[in-house]
Amino acid sequence: IPVEPFDLVIFGGTGDLARRKILPGLYRRLADGQMPPEARVIGAARSDMDDAAFRALVGEALEEFLPDNAKDPERIAEFLELLSYVRVDATGEDGWAALKEHIREGTVHAFYFSVGPSLFGPIAERLKSQGIADDKSRIVVEKPFGKDLQTARALNESLACHFDETQIYRIDHYLGKETVQNLMAVRFGNMLFEPLWNSRYVDHIQITVAETVGVGGRGEYYDRSGAMRDMVQNHLLQLLCLIAMEPPGRFEDESVRDEKLKVIRALKPVAPEDIVRGQYADGDEPGYKSAVNNPSSKTESFIALRLGIANWRWSGTPFYLRTGKRLKARASEIAVVFKDAPHSIFDGPPGQSNVLSIRLQPNEGMEMVVTIKEPGPGGMRLIQVPLDMSFADALGEQAEDIPDAYERLIMDVIRGNQTLFMRGDEVEAAWAWTDPVIEGWEDRGATPSPYEQGSTGPEEALMLLHQDGRRWREIK
Ligand code: BG6
Repeated sequence: IPVEPFDLVIFGGTGDLARRKILPGLYRRLADGQMPPEARVIGAARSDMDDAAFRALVGEALEEFLPDNAKDPERIAEFLELLSYVRVDATGEDGWAALKEHIREGTVHAFYFSVGPSLFGPIAERLKSQGIADDKSRIVVEKPFGKDLQTARALNESLACHFDETQIYRIDHYLGKETVQNLMAVRFGNMLFEPLWNSRYVDHIQITVAETVGVGGRGEYYDRSGAMRDMVQNHLLQLLCLIAMEPPGRFEDESVRDEKLKVIRALKPVAPEDIVRGQYADGDEPGYKSAVNNPSSKTESFIALRLGIANWRWSGTPFYLRTGKRLKARASEIAVVFKDAPHSIFDGPPGQSNVLSIRLQPNEGMEMVVTIKEPGPGGMRLIQVPLDMSFADALGEQAEDIPDAYERLIMDVIRGNQTLFMRGDEVEAAWAWTDPVIEGWEDRGATPSPYEQGSTGPEEALMLLHQDGRRWREIK
């Protein structure tokens, strides 16, 4: 279903995120028939270039970042036609009048801040003072949304001077991932799981986001952030919220975000023994310290945490989170591990626990491990088999069209649907929980343990679960 005609301005329109994700995502929506022909996309950045040069740059980005089967020359030409470019000085006065000329009456107006957070305030201020945005316009802001509670609060305040909360779309692209949304469909669209979804039946929960990439060209940013700020404060906490939250009254922005906020506020403080930090050593690629060009860096490129949620539903259920770079495989999954059956009526070794695992990437899908009888005459021998539902198998061609997170989220902005975006109070609550964890290890002067590239992280991360008589699921 096509969305309403819109004017989308992308600040940082020539930057990495725009080229890699935002523009290819918009193209795919056009190719899929969702973007109306009246839509306009306006790149805004510091560089001096005209429309033709911008279109050429976007054409090259599509060539580089789209899979071959998504490239249709006719549709690409159609898409490039919708683009224009304005040179704007985000902190000065140049270009704003020209930008205003591009914004038409009667369309949805969205402004995507694909720029560093220091420019959020100045751009928001100019959009309003120059009469470019009004009280129906939408602004989209990217992470990092601050580096601690204080900076996040300052950013919220600077945006709130010019825009109402209902106009602000804070992106966490994990919320746009198809399987993440499916998590809500599974929890709240079926009767099967919800009655068991609590500390009485769930033994523990594991959330893993493993990456094979290193810090790449983002060393400077990453060394200031580390895995805790870069991944846990936002993506992993959001996943945890969706797993742990109470059923919202409706699948709509305020209900969902209210429930997520309650989870963040119920997170227990984290003790030093609940944290394992790691840093990848020299290997096939230069090690972390060389990659960020800081021989004395104490920043973690891996973190594992044992968390608890202080509420009735989850009292006593550990949530184990881990994420890291240069690991064995790119694999993200959430696993809900159920308790053992209370009593075995069979001779021989008991069956193992049921596990519901939700694979975020790659091979999006879900798997439920259940105990059955091993076929054959050998008596009642129990084995574990997966009831596997990979989207590719179950949905065939439909699964090939799973939209990228950014496609979905940008269209939600145009539709005015904030459900999959973070509210200001949620981001602040996440920082309020994160800050003391980071301050704790900084005060202790803790250094991360080195780990081998291509491994599953430092040994100590295995111990975190072994101590509790549990084990991590395999990263594969
Ligand atoms: C980003 C982080 O938010 O998410 C990156 O800044 C990380 O460090 C990326 O690599 C992972 O996203 P995805 O979608 O590839 O899992």
